[in-house]
Formats: sequence, structure tokens, C-alpha cells
Amino acid sequence: MQDKVTFALAKGRLAEKSVDILEKCGIDCRRILEPSRKLVMSDASGKFEFIFVKPSDVPIYVEHGVADVGVVGKDTLMEESRDVYELIDLGFAKCRLCLAGYKDFDLSKPRNILKVATKYVNVAKDYFDGKGQNVEIIPLHGSIELGPIVGLSDIILDIVESGKTLQENNLAVLEEIVNCSARLIINKVSLKTKADVIKPLVKSIDEIIKNKEN
Ligand code: PRP
Repeated sequence: MQDKVTFALAKGRLAEKSVDILEKCGIDCRRILEPSRKLVMSDASGKFEFIFVKPSDVPIYVEHGVADVGVVGKDTLMEESRDVYELIDLGFAKCRLCLAGYKDFDLSKPRNILKVATKYVNVAKDYFDGKGQNVEIIPLHGSIELGPIVGLSDIILDIVESGKTLQENNLAVLEEIVNCSARLIINKVSLKTKADVIKPLVKSIDEIIKNKEN
């Protein structure tokens, strides 16, 4: 009998787009999107299991092997830096990790310390360490744009998708750090022990993504 393969997914758009791709791979799993508080669900065949977790926890479940496969944003993956294989750029959930603030804020001006509010504490630390800029990182969990508005921080480091939140709060992108999108990640042991299921699945997903691009 086939080993059960477990996916870690974050509810919302990442799960919806993931289901679209998995359905194209022949996995009948649309029902996992039905409104429910259930945290563990299966596809119609019972061969695939889905656990619903917070987006930032997806790489943790996959690293620990509780889930074999995960779908997570590159931004989260950079922040979490977990020991997993990042195999495919799925091409959806596109956004940019940016520094943002009031548009006249001069990033290049030398200053002793720059106050940065962010959910991406590790990304911010690495980025400013690389620049040799002394920073005070102020960790927030949401509404990051408030940072400069209320004077909590000079700037923010955050994802920008449509740019609407910045615009509506009179803020602007000051610098782009990296482009992000959803990634397929795999547990390193599962790729060997469940290769008979995971490898063909990865191949199908890769083909679907490549066909979409062309
Ligand atoms: C994210 C992010 C920005 C916003 C960017 O917040 O932190 O605030 O989306 O999207 P936009 O460029 O399309 O406006 P989210 O919606 O996750 O809410 P949060 O403030 O609770 O983190």
C-alpha cells in the first residue's frame, strides 16, 4: 500500500491555489477547501492528508517531517530558514519584500541607528548586517505600516503585493529587497523514503507550472 503523504498548507489563497495544482495532478482534494474548523483532512482516495497550519509554521512542520510537503511563501521561507528542500517556484502569491516609509525618507543618509518595524526580524537583521547599518529592529505581528505613522519606527520592512496598503497610508517603497512567490518545499527524508509518490508528484507539478509559463 502507498505510504500516506502529508501536506502542510496555510488556509486562504495559498491553499486554494495549491488545490488547483493538485487537482490537475489527479488528486481529488477540492473538498479540503470547504468551510470547516477541521485541522486534518484527506483527499478522496485517502492517500493524501492535509494539515492546516499558520503560514509561518509550514516550514517547521515540514522540517520535522510531520508533513512531507508544504506550500509556503518565499518571504516566510527566508525568515524561517529551515532545513528543507525548496524544489519548485509555484509562481503564485507574488509579492516583494521591501523597505518602505515616507517617500522623502532618505535611506542613504548616514545615521547612528535606523529603527525598522517588521514581521521579518531575521531577514531585516541579515539585510542590514550585510550593509553594515546599525538597526533597532522592532518586531510587530501585523499592521506594520503603522510603524512610521505613529513614530514607532523610521521605516518598515514588509511585503508589498498590490501596494494599496502603502498608498492608502501615504507611504512608499524605498527599496526592494527581493521578489517572492509561493514555493513547494519537501522534507529531506520523505523525498527518499516516499520517493515513489513524491518524485512523480513533483514532476507533474513542475510540468504544470512550466506549461503555465509558456
Ligand atoms: C500584508 C502586509 C502588508 C499588506 C501588503 O498584511 O503586511 O500590510 O499585506 O499588501 P498590499 O500591498 O496588497 O496592500 P496582511 O494583509 O497580511 O495583514 P497584517 O497587517 O495583519 O499583517
